[in-house]
Amino acid sequence: MSLRHAPWETAAEFAIGLRPIAPEDWLEGGEADPALRKDPLLAAHPHLVWAEAPGSRPAQTEALEMVAEALQASIDPEHRPPLLAAARKVADDLCLMEKRAGAWRLTALSLSAGTFFTASEVVGRSLAELHGPVPGFEASLLARVARIFDGLREGLILERRNWTVVNSPALFAPSSAPIRARIGDIDPDRAGEALFGRVERQTLRRLPRTGAALFTIRVWTDPLSRIAADPTRLEAFAKAWRAATPEFRAYKRLDLYDALVARLIDGP
Ligand code: HEM
Repeated sequence: MSLRHAPWETAAEFAIGLRPIAPEDWLEGGEADPALRKDPLLAAHPHLVWAEAPGSRPAQTEALEMVAEALQASIDPEHRPPLLAAARKVADDLCLMEKRAGAWRLTALSLSAGTFFTASEVVGRSLAELHGPVPGFEASLLARVARIFDGLREGLILERRNWTVVNSPALFAPSSAPIRARIGDIDPDRAGEALFGRVERQTLRRLPRTGAALFTIRVWTDPLSRIAADPTRLEAFAKAWRAATPEFRAYKRLDLYDALVARLIDGP
C-alpha cells in the first residue's frame, strides 16, 4: 500500500520546507464526518482541544467562510465560535495567526490531533514562544518564518510536512509521557506494528479581509511495517534515521526507539 506522505525522504533536520500547492489540494479530506471524532474530545477535554483569545472572532469568521468555500457548503456555526464550527467540518486542525503589536500570535485554535501540546497552553503565544522548545528555531528560522507570514500573498497556499516516530497510532496525543511509558512493553519482533511514522501535513494561507493567516495541521500515522514492506521505502527511512541531526533526534526523543528501529532496519 502506498503512503500519502513520506517526508523523511526529504529531510531529517529542522527545516522551513514550505512549498506552494494548488488551491484544489488545500485540504486533503477523506474523513467522512470529522465532528464524530472531534466533538467527544471537546466534551471530555475542552481546554486541551479548543482555545480563543479576545478579539479573534472577526478573523475566525473569515476562516469559516474560507473553509465553507473550499468545501462548497454552507456552515452554520449555531452556538459555536466560528473557527470551531469550521474545524468540525474538516479533518485538519485549524490555527488562527494574527499580527498583534508587531508579532504573529496564535489567537484561536481547534486542536484535536496535537503532537504533545494542548490548545490552552499555546493560545496567545507568538511564533518565537510557540517554537521555544525547538532547538535553533529562534536563531535560524524565526526571522524567515515571520517574513513569510508578513509577505503571504492572497491566494497563495503553502504546504510543509514534518515527521517523527511514536509508539501510538492515536491522533489525539496531548502529552508524550503516557505514550512513552509504554515503550518497554513492546515486543521487538513486533516493532513494525507497534511503532508509527507520525506525519504532520501543514498548510498556510492569508485571510485577506482581516490580514490574519490560517495554519492547518493534518496528522497521518502509519505503522512502520507499512514502510518496511517496500525495500526502497525502508532504505530511504533507514537513511533518514541514520542521517537525523543530533538536535532533531534529541528533540523528538528518537533515541527511545533506536533499538526497536534497528531491529526493523537490520533484521533480528
Ligand atoms: C509556517 C511556518 C512554520 C514553520 C516553518 C514551523 C516550524 C516548526 C518546526 C521545525 C518545528 C519542530 C518540529 C518539526 O516540524 O520537525 C515546529 C514545532 C512546532 N510548531 Fe511550528 N512552524 C511553523 C508554524 C507554526 C504555527 C503557525 C504554529 C501555531 C500553532 C506552530 C506551532 C508549533 C508547535 C506548538 C510546535 C511544537 C513545539 C514544542 O515542542 O512544544 N508552528 N515548528
